[in-house]
Amino acid sequence: MAKPSDTSRQLAELLKPGAQICDLGAGGGRHAWLFASENFNVVAVDRNQQALKALEQVNREYPNCQVVGDDILSFLTSCESTFDAIVMWDCVHHVVQGERAFDDLARCLRQRIADQGYLLITFLSDICYPDQLSSQDRYLLSREAAARQLQGAFTHGWQLVVEKEKSFSIPAAEGMQGTSIVVGNYSATRLVRLYKAVPFSGDGVPGDTDVFHAAVQAVAGLQLCRESH
Ligand SMILES: C[S@@+](CC[C@H](N)C(=O)[O-])C[C@H]1O[C@@H](n2cnc3c(N)ncnc32)[C@H](O)[C@@H]1O
Repeated sequence: MAKPSDTSRQLAELLKPGAQICDLGAGGGRHAWLFASENFNVVAVDRNQQALKALEQVNREYPNCQVVGDDILSFLTSCESTFDAIVMWDCVHHVVQGERAFDDLARCLRQRIADQGYLLITFLSDICYPDQLSSQDRYLLSREAAARQLQGAFTHGWQLVVEKEKSFSIPAAEGMQGTSIVVGNYSATRLVRLYKAVPFSGDGVPGDTDVFHAAVQAVAGLQLCRESH
């Protein structure tokens, strides 16, 4: 299994014993594994069959890691729990495809995180895919635009704790094109943000109830958009 990220290790040190963690787009399970092995309660969500097999393996080793096979947006809309931390690493560009949808996702994530809880999110920017791989259905922004998008979406109700950026390239990376695997060079700049969820304050900033309804409606709208494509 790949190594958990340094920032996820930093997050693990900030959490209290018994914390509830949700790993959205958990993939091969490296972050779910890290949090479960530290005795936190983990919910790992992914829609990909191969990822779910890997996550079941983590569940066999750590029964405190629950595996959910679902789409991230439908999970967020149907889930009634709040978490002490949500991790969303390298999957946002698959989940939303525009500025408004990104802002709606941020509001919805805020509703699913307890006050003083954390969000660890990465946004891949300047992505360069292998020629044969379609970039359709992905939210592709330059590094500057992605940084602006994060800054705009994670303001009210969030406090920035960690900010990092790293460019990387993977020669002969494997990517999915429908059901087949496409191999080619892949590069991107990863924007890493760790936010703390703080109470909303100040004039003109919506109260919790308003935000909750707005966020649920927005994400339900997102799903309708997805289904109509
Ligand atoms: C690049 S991998 C990252 C995996 C993991 N977060 C990590 O850091 O190792 C992206 C993962 O997000 C999942 N994913 C992307 N969009 C999704 C969606 N809408 N619902 C559920 N899973 C999704 C993919 O199946 C894949 O496993």
